[in-house]
Amino acid sequence: MNTYDTIMKLALERGFYFPSCEIYGDAPAGFWDYGPTGVNMKNRFVELWRRELVRRDGMLEIDGSQIMSKSIFIASGHITNFTDPMIICKQCGSTFRADKHIAEITGHELPELASGSEIDNIIVENKLSCPKCGGPFEKSTRFNMMFKIGIGPSNDEAYLRPETCQSIFVDFPRIFKTMRGRLPLAIAQLGKSFRNEIAPRQSLLRLREFYQAEIEIFCNPNRLDEVPKFEEMKKKVLRLYINDSYQEITAQDAVDQLIIPNNLVAYYLTLLVLFYEKTGIDMNRTRLRQLSTSEKAFYASFAFDFEVETSIGWLELVACNYRSDYDLRGHSTVSKQNLHVIDPIDNTKVLPNVFELSMGIDRSIYSILEHSFFEDFEHERTVLRLRPYLAPILAGILPLITKDGLREKAQLIYSQLKLDFPVFYDESGSIGRRYRRLEEIGAPFAVTVDRQTLSDDTVTIRNRDTMLQLRIQISELSNYLHKEAYKLVS
Ligand code: GLY
Repeated sequence: MNTYDTIMKLALERGFYFPSCEIYGDAPAGFWDYGPTGVNMKNRFVELWRRELVRRDGMLEIDGSQIMSKSIFIASGHITNFTDPMIICKQCGSTFRADKHIAEITGHELPELASGSEIDNIIVENKLSCPKCGGPFEKSTRFNMMFKIGIGPSNDEAYLRPETCQSIFVDFPRIFKTMRGRLPLAIAQLGKSFRNEIAPRQSLLRLREFYQAEIEIFCNPNRLDEVPKFEEMKKKVLRLYINDSYQEITAQDAVDQLIIPNNLVAYYLTLLVLFYEKTGIDMNRTRLRQLSTSEKAFYASFAFDFEVETSIGWLELVACNYRSDYDLRGHSTVSKQNLHVIDPIDNTKVLPNVFELSMGIDRSIYSILEHSFFEDFEHERTVLRLRPYLAPILAGILPLITKDGLREKAQLIYSQLKLDFPVFYDESGSIGRRYRRLEEIGAPFAVTVDRQTLSDDTVTIRNRDTMLQLRIQISELSNYLHKEAYKLVS
């Protein structure tokens, strides 16, 4: 079984994620549900995002609507530009995402903005036909990926947001005013976005409904190098991938050599890399890839993708786009509101520019699972070596046997810990099997209640990675778990 399939099996069998509406034959593709284990892990990932990006940098967080008016997406350009190339079979009517289909069959990677004639030529040159019925393709078209919906009895046209950040842009004037904002101002949001993908696939990797954690940094375009907090991280070495080659250089050198255009962008890219270091992803298998002109999204004037290497290739986890004043200018024109603000440092009126860190949560979760997965052949076990603060369960509470008051004692410990920690009580099966089940979902600790517990109020704590056990007082358990859970992020 390949690694992707192994993770899929684990996800299905251990409650990480599974297809939505799976008991029905008409369940649409591209929608997945997180199960109890997956929700715990996702929540803990989000908490790390809040801790290491939002709170560390002093960002403001909002929670906007998922349904937004048509005007928003006229202004944002999504109604015109948010399209994917599509080919339709003349014979059976099957639809395919043109660039992905061409890449799969020919190995030829097309840029995101490849023209229709470029696509049609490749299809003719390679004699591509419908993989379902062998029929010929119509000329390629472009398919808008937004979900259109109707509001109220009059069915007013609106859309499910295809990116969370549009709320941030339109909420910016109020937030700037009411929160006494100053540039640069970073506003964050976590929530669902929706894209009507032509060919959703690979579970969490290409979804039609997915989680984004987006950060939009509003800045004065004339002061992009005035970022005092960059001082403390400018020596951080970044792994950049520029024009098909790797460069490992400090953030400062990348700015000096004009690879990264300014201190503000360098600071936030570095903050992002420091965040991912704490997720347990193997950073030697990550890179910040600079996108070429034809790969960038339509609103970006330059862009890096933070990518991670997995068993199915390089995955984009975070789009880091310099959107300039594209969005505020668009919203200002369509809404007829003045979105300029005063920068008190030089008392000038500016239409802020925006740099964003647009993170895919689901893909990050998949990548962490894959990079943490470990087949321990020596001990015949499968272990998810998750960082304790990302593990869905921090500790299992296990009575060695259920007799002689051990069950009651273990349940008491469980109820004392469960409000403060993600702990799990388990009494079914041999102790060895219970350890294995915990290891498979990445629980870093197993607390075992045995006969000695009854006489001296101690328990054993078994470490998932070393498999060593230590004995501690029950009264020390809470401190121990707290210290161990967070020691890697302090
Ligand atoms: N906001 C950028 C993106 O969704 O990719």
